[in-house]
Amino acid sequence: MPLLTRRNLLKASAVAGAYGVGMGVAGKFGLAAAAPEPQLLTAVKTEAMLTEAGPTRDVMSWGRDGMPPVLRMTKGRPYAARLNNQLDEPTTIHWHGLRIDNHMDGVPFLTQPYVYTGDSFDYAFTPPDAGTFWYHPHCNTLTQMGHGMTGMLIVEDPADPEFDAEVLLNLRDWRLGGDGQFIAPFRSRDAAKSGTYGTVRTANWHQEPQYDVPAGGLVRLRMAITDVTRIFSLTMAGADAAVIAIDGNPVPKRFPLELLQIGPGQRLDLAVRMPDSEGAVATLEDIRGTRPKTIVSLRAAGQSLKRNIGDLGPLAENPLPKADLSAAVEIPLILSATAENAAVESICGTLGYSFWAINKVPWPGDTSDPTAPLAELKLGKSYVFNLENTTPHAHPIHLHGMSFTVISSSTREVMPLISDTYLVQPDEKVQLALVADNPGDWVLHCHIIEHQKTGMTSYVRVS
Ligand code: C2O
Ligand code: CU
Repeated sequence: MPLLTRRNLLKASAVAGAYGVGMGVAGKFGLAAAAPEPQLLTAVKTEAMLTEAGPTRDVMSWGRDGMPPVLRMTKGRPYAARLNNQLDEPTTIHWHGLRIDNHMDGVPFLTQPYVYTGDSFDYAFTPPDAGTFWYHPHCNTLTQMGHGMTGMLIVEDPADPEFDAEVLLNLRDWRLGGDGQFIAPFRSRDAAKSGTYGTVRTANWHQEPQYDVPAGGLVRLRMAITDVTRIFSLTMAGADAAVIAIDGNPVPKRFPLELLQIGPGQRLDLAVRMPDSEGAVATLEDIRGTRPKTIVSLRAAGQSLKRNIGDLGPLAENPLPKADLSAAVEIPLILSATAENAAVESICGTLGYSFWAINKVPWPGDTSDPTAPLAELKLGKSYVFNLENTTPHAHPIHLHGMSFTVISSSTREVMPLISDTYLVQPDEKVQLALVADNPGDWVLHCHIIEHQKTGMTSYVRVS
């Protein structure tokens, strides 16, 4: 292996980019904030090499280059994208975790019309927060996301500390048979439990990839759990890793990654200090389930840079209004199982069952229609969601359009994390505080897509 410079690293893997000199300069002295050219995102059916068995057909992505492109934008700078639908079914794009205008949120009928085959839709917004996010359709999602449409989205802050390398991980599974082709997307008996797992696990559409990064260097590992089902229990072997951000937001206090559970929809940013000796390997592992599983390995390359995790400056906080807890109105959000019955046909695809409910209502598919909002919030007022999980399964509950702060849990000590997705454990009650500062109808749902599509979805109205 030749010595890897930042430039070589970029070439060595499509995902390990130089973070630092190049990016910093572009960020600080780049284009002025004029309306940008839209980035073209063409939704297509394609083929991809996911297993040894040969190309998988009916893969869905934006563009034909395999994994959806990593979208890069800058905090506070306008961004635009044109979705062009070449699929044979309607689609949209939701920008998971971005606090943007409601009509850019990508939820069919609730915030925008369907984008039909051959049509396009222009998205334009200015991301207010820096961090690691992702994007996906909000329509027939078990199929569209399950077949590949889950992409990473990075919002840069030019003031972020410099790392020696950055590695992005888009973590997801595929439900493929031994011939490498898609099998049934779910089993109803699993949808009524923790969801149906994929059969092939990938990071960046590769099984257990290995990336070269500078020995003794500091690596920013940004990951997004874009799978429709799987919850991870992450640990790092062979290197020290500090958790620096969760769900796009800097943690109030950095802590070493020992074991962290993270569910579909969530993101994690780690600062990894690579070992000093050339060839040493650090592995990120998922120890949930019976056998530990390697997700990715990082190989130390070159002469040690002898960096120190403690030298890393802080990430800037994102500009979130603080909820006024003394005046906050409390809203119950009780997750339960529901008597199994057939789901009503929904405008956005149904799985044909309902198994789950929020506040006793099993919601139809991932659309709001025709049910009224779960709660009506007054613009500018503070609220506390009392989220209670009365089921024996964990649920990553995601709110569109606004971020909340975790203020308490009935089962553990919590940091005041700012997030858009909370993984609520069985029998846990948690309080999530927010200011209803973004007008519109905002979906709130479990990000285990089978749960979302069998009752565990709803929306709140802010006006
Ligand atoms: Cu990640 Cu309703 O979305
Ligand atoms: Cu769930």
